[in-house]
Order: sequence, then C-alpha cells, then structure tokens
Amino acid sequence: MSAGLSFDGRVVLVTGAGGGLGRAYALAFAERGASVVVNDLGGDSKGHGKSSSAADKVVEEIRAKGGKAVANYDSVEAGEKLVQSALEAFGRIDIVINNAGILRDRSFARISDEDWDIIHRVHLKGSFLVTRAAWNHMKNQKFGRIIMTSSAAGIYGNFGQANYSAAKLGLLGLSNTLAIEGRKYNIHSNTIAPTAGSRLTQAIMPQDLVDAFKPEYVAPLVLWLCHERCQENGGLFEVGAGWIGKLRWERSLGSIVREKNHPMTPEAVQDKWEKICDFDNASKPRTIQESVSILNDVLSQIESEEVSMNPTSYTRSASSGFDPSKYVGQKLPTVVYNYTHLQPILYALGVGMTTKDPDHLKFVFEGSEAFCCLPTFGVIPAQASLWDGGLSSVAGLNSDFTKLLHGEQYLELYKPLPTSGLLTSESTIADILDKGSGALILLDVHTYCGKDLLCYNQFSLFIVGAGGFGGKRTSEKAKVTVNPPNRTPDAVLSDVTTVDQAALYRLSGDWNPLHIDPGFAALGGFQKPILHGLCSFGFAARHVLKHFANNDVTRFKAIKVRFVKPVFPGQTLQTEMWKEGNRIHIQTKVKETGEVAIAGAYVDLTSILDKPSAKDPIKASGLQSDLVFEEIGRRIKEVGNQLVKKVNAIFQWDITKGGETAAQWTIDLKNGSGEVYQGPAQGSADTTFTLSDQDFMEVVLGKINPQKAFFSGKLKVKGNIMLSQKLEMILKDYAKL
Ligand code: NAI
Repeated sequence: MSAGLSFDGRVVLVTGAGGGLGRAYALAFAERGASVVVNDLGGDSKGHGKSSSAADKVVEEIRAKGGKAVANYDSVEAGEKLVQSALEAFGRIDIVINNAGILRDRSFARISDEDWDIIHRVHLKGSFLVTRAAWNHMKNQKFGRIIMTSSAAGIYGNFGQANYSAAKLGLLGLSNTLAIEGRKYNIHSNTIAPTAGSRLTQAIMPQDLVDAFKPEYVAPLVLWLCHERCQENGGLFEVGAGWIGKLRWERSLGSIVREKNHPMTPEAVQDKWEKICDFDNASKPRTIQESVSILNDVLSQIESEEVSMNPTSYTRSASSGFDPSKYVGQKLPTVVYNYTHLQPILYALGVGMTTKDPDHLKFVFEGSEAFCCLPTFGVIPAQASLWDGGLSSVAGLNSDFTKLLHGEQYLELYKPLPTSGLLTSESTIADILDKGSGALILLDVHTYCGKDLLCYNQFSLFIVGAGGFGGKRTSEKAKVTVNPPNRTPDAVLSDVTTVDQAALYRLSGDWNPLHIDPGFAALGGFQKPILHGLCSFGFAARHVLKHFANNDVTRFKAIKVRFVKPVFPGQTLQTEMWKEGNRIHIQTKVKETGEVAIAGAYVDLTSILDKPSAKDPIKASGLQSDLVFEEIGRRIKEVGNQLVKKVNAIFQWDITKGGETAAQWTIDLKNGSGEVYQGPAQGSADTTFTLSDQDFMEVVLGKINPQKAFFSGKLKVKGNIMLSQKLEMILKDYAKL
C-alpha cells in the first residue's frame, strides 16, 4: 500500500461542485487537507437559472467536517472570477478540476444554435477560460494539475448528443496540448471520461445503476492525477463503478496508394481499402512526431520506386514465392577482415580527410604519435558480410545490385578500433519488413577482435520490388532515426567532395559499380555514378567528431543515419548539427541544391567526464565540481523525468574550499522533469551535503564511497539522511563518472 496522499497546502478549484461528481471531488480533496473553492452556478441540468444554495451546501458539509472551503457562484464563463476567489481566499491556485456541465440533448437535426452554443460555452469555453486564468499562477510556481472532463459520448459518439459530443472531445484536444505546453513548468493536464449516477444521468440510467455508480468511485482517480507525486500527463481515462482504464490511439499499418509519376486515384484507394482498415500489426503513435514520421518513410519509398532500372520491379513479388520468415534469424557466414594501417588511411582519405587540415594528420599518417582509426571505419569490416557470399546466400534477394538501396545505417562502438588487425564479423538477418514497394532487410553485424566485441552495425537494405509479400512494416529490432530539434543548428560544417571521391571511397571495399560505372548508373536511373551513402556518412560523422569532440575518437559512441537523396561526387556536403546533451543531431545537405541527403541522423558521444583527456583538464580555475554539476544538469535534461519519479527529492550541495563554502548547487529531482542550478535550493532542500571540492571529486570518481566519506567526517549531511542512498543513482548511473 502506498503512503497516504496529502493535499496539505494545496488550493483546489472544482467547477460545478454543487452536486454529483464535483461535490465528491470537493469533499475528497478537503478531507485530505486541501483548501477548496466550491464553484457552482446552481442552475438546472439544462443550464437555466442560478442559485447559491448548491455551492453553499457543499461548503457547509466540508466545514462541518473540519475542512477548508469557500463558495463561488459564478458561471465558468467568467473564468477569471473563479480563480480570483481562490487567490483571495487562499492566496494561490494549484489544481483546477473542470467539471461543470449541462445537457441539451436533441437529435442532430433539431439542435438549435442556442443548444449548440450553450453546450460549447459551458463545457469547452468555460474550461478554457478557467484554466487560462489559472495558467500563469501555475507556471510561476512551477506546479499545476488540471483535469478536463470529457465523456464516452465524445469518444464514441452517442445518439442525441452531437453538441455535447463535440464539446467533450474538444476538451481532450485542449488537454493534449496543455500537457505539452505545461510539461516544463510541472503543469500536468489529464482528461477523464467518467460514468456516475448524478442528476445528469438520472434521466438515462435506471435508478439502481444511478445508486450503484457512485461519484465517490471516480474521485480517487482525480485525486491521484492531481497529486504532486503523479507524473501522468496528457492521459485519457475512463472511470466508473470502481474501475479505471486508460485509452490511447491505435493506427492501422495502412497502405501506400500512390506511385511515383502516376496520379493518385480514388480507385487505388478503393483497391487498398481492406489493407488501409486492417488493424493487424497496428501501431500506437503517442505524439504528433511519431504520428507523422511515417510520412518521411512513405515519401522515400515512393521516391525509391524511380531509381529502379527495371520497370518490372514495380510488380509485387508475392508471386515470386519469396518467404521472409525462412530467413529471419538466419546467420550469414562469418567473414574475416585482415588489415594493416593502409586500410584506415585509405578510408580516411575516402571520407575526405586531407593533409591540408593539420588535425587530420593522425588519421592519414601511420607515423603520427596519435595515429588512429576514424570511428566510422567500423562499417568497413562489417560490410564484407553483404558481399562475399553473404546476403546473396538468401535466395530471392540475390545480388541484383541495381535493386539494392542502402536505406539506413547504425553503428555503435564499444572500443576504439585498432589501426591494424584481424577482425571477424558475425551477421544475422534481424528482420525483413514488407514496405510495399520493396522489402527492407535489417542486417545485424557484430565485429570482434579475438573475443572482444568491437562494434555493432545495423544495415537497413531496401530491395526494390521485393515487397508485397504480406509481411509486417515495422520491427522493434530496428534502430530508429530521430528528427533534429526545431531550431537553427548549433554548428554547420561543410566540405567539398572531389570528383573522384567515390572512386577513392570504393577502394575501402564497396564494389558496387553504381558508384563508378556510368553505364551501370544509367541503368539504375542516375545521370552519373553516385557517391556511396556510407561515404557521406563518413563526412558527417567526422564533422561531428571535429566540432564537438576535438577529434577525440574515444568519445565516439554511436551513429544513426537515414539516406534520403543521392549525392554526386564533386558536390558539397554540408552538415548541420544540433547539440542536445551528449547527442548531436545531424542533417547533411547538398549545398549546391539545398537537398537533404542524410536525415533523422545523430551521433552519440560519451561525456567529456567519462574520460577526461589531457587536453581538457577539469577547469583550471574555479572548482572542479562545477563541471560535474553542469554535466549532471545535462544528463538530467535527458533522463530527468525518470529520475524525478525514482528519487523525488531536492538535494543541496555546499562545496567548500579551504574550510569556506565556495559554491552551492541544487539538484532538484522533485519538480517538473528535474533541474540543476547554482545556489541554494529554492523552497527547501530535503537533504543538504557539505564537503570539500577535493572530496567531492573523489566521491564522484569512485575513489571513496559516500558512506565512507560520511563516517570519516568528510561529508556532512543535514535533513533526510536516508535519501543520500539515492546519491549513487545520480552520481554513478547518470553521470557515469
Ligand atoms: P451534475 O449536474 O450533478 O453536476 C454538474 C454541475 O455543474 C451542477 O451542479 C451544475 O449546477 C454545475 N454547472 C452547470 N453549469 C455551470 C456553469 N456554467 N458554471 C458553473 N457551474 C455549472 O452532473 P455530473 O454528472 O456530476 O457531471 C459532472 C461532469 O461530468 C459534467 O461535465 C458532465 O458532462 C461530466 N460527465 C458525467 C457523466 C456521468 O455519468 N455522470 C458522464 C460523462 C461526463
């Protein structure tokens, strides 16, 4: 059983609280310590008349039980006034329950303008006005909880309730957006669709159900959703009779009904209707980004039809007898890659490294003291699996290179790559997806040096014309692309490729003639040979490495890219980069045309503090701990939500130097999605730690553990000492120090 949920100190405004559900909420909040504004216009169930008695009665009930409440008799259409009552009586507003409601049920054709308008004014506009009046107060105090009251009539429709259904579903849309806009201020908005016996349902429910579905069976959900401990935001719940369920959207896999260079027709829609409405393998998009991300896929699939040299490849290969289930999980023959320093140098030149740039020397000169391999060289030993008796061993996919497109690439490094050696790569067909116009093969390749796993690649290979076999469209095994943030890039680097870039790059082992032979390229529909996708990938990766990691290869963790458009040798690759913590989002454009060549891409770097390099000593001046807090701050930005759930506490740090307090830091893992800031805790800290800058670094670097530091007197703890156990979670797991 969870600990009691108290609302001491919280101020709650419940609209329409003079009866039914609202009354039950008001009583329940007051019982748990909240100060409640009981709002009710006191009219009839159709919205006629007004009276103060409904609200007064509930206020009296609360006060009789020792609770705190005031009445407000305004209509929700006077939103500001309701919030004003809360501020005047209790000085703040924390929680708004939009509950007031009336009915004007009529069959659709008989709904008058008045019936339509009043329903919208009370339910939708009323909720908007009351919530807007409270919003800035919530924002400023970085806490707010909002409930919208929807209805099954809105979600599913209900005879005779067109006006009400429309307004009720409107409230869900309103809540969904408030959830997004409020998130960073710790304002959460959720929607409920209740079922309860009340005066509104009396006319439509038999009396025994009205009695059985008590409003008291809905109130506990509302209280939980409004508690500071509850992180739910943007949810929709059906609730009644003591049961609660959550709802979400489901979307069929759908079907592409358009072909490149052909008009899209209603007949094509009709032909695909069954597939469009088939919920097998449905997806469950949760955000607008997730929802529309499929459209990129659709465009590139439609686009890719054209690059096929062979018009017959449009015909679905269902009749070819291709059965992917036979191949998923199949291991391809192990390939061995034996190399000297020559290959990493050739590769570096292939992806545009040049002696013109002094900091490139360590990649192109084996005699350099710091000679090392570019991290993206990791694709080279792995790609051999595609050729040498690899993929071609899968019947039906045989090596018709004109039909093979490299869709996406993921590479993760576990160790810096050796500059020479003997590597083995083991490949597995992780999945085969049916993308309609083609089959997408996910090939997982693990590359080892002896027993040591060096790197993992996932190749996403699109075989034009091999789709339509009735397979699934998505796979949980796929490493997914991520769109960059919606702002101007933090950095842009560009490099001109040479006309011989592809001719040079192919010497690293990608022998597809598409990149060198004009005749072959023409067969594939290109005006001339195109650059290897993995060559542009190499350019983009080294741009990130240079700009954000000072060319330190040990900081490179992983890269994911999607190849969108071909690049021709001689064109300029321009990499736009956005830094979000240790993830650098990237997008590569062809400068001359402005077209995006690589999209949805990112590079993950390890934190500077994972491996302090000689060039970056921890702040020469000031405190060493500053950098650690800054880094923890960045991590919390990434994973703060989960941490807030797990830790739920505010920690203050007093860092001393020479016996004096030299800095104060606060790690707030209680409010919103957490934050780290310099200075004492705003509000109050649950636990305050005092220790010297030096000892702090030792704790952080794992040289002494916090318990030892405490018992030896180096670390002083004030407040809730038990919470210090959670420190390791913050310092070790998340700062990875
Ligand atoms: P109710 O009629 O007992 O409560 C609604 C209250 O809102 C009334 O006390 C009424 O005086 C007040 N009100 C009406 N117009 C107002 C205005 N302009 N300003 C301030 N107060 C106003 O009904 P019930 O069932 O408790 O309904 C509460 C909410 O739950 C409503 O929004 C309703 O649409 C919704 N709902 C209820 C369901 C149920 O099964 N009871 C089903 C689905 C939704």
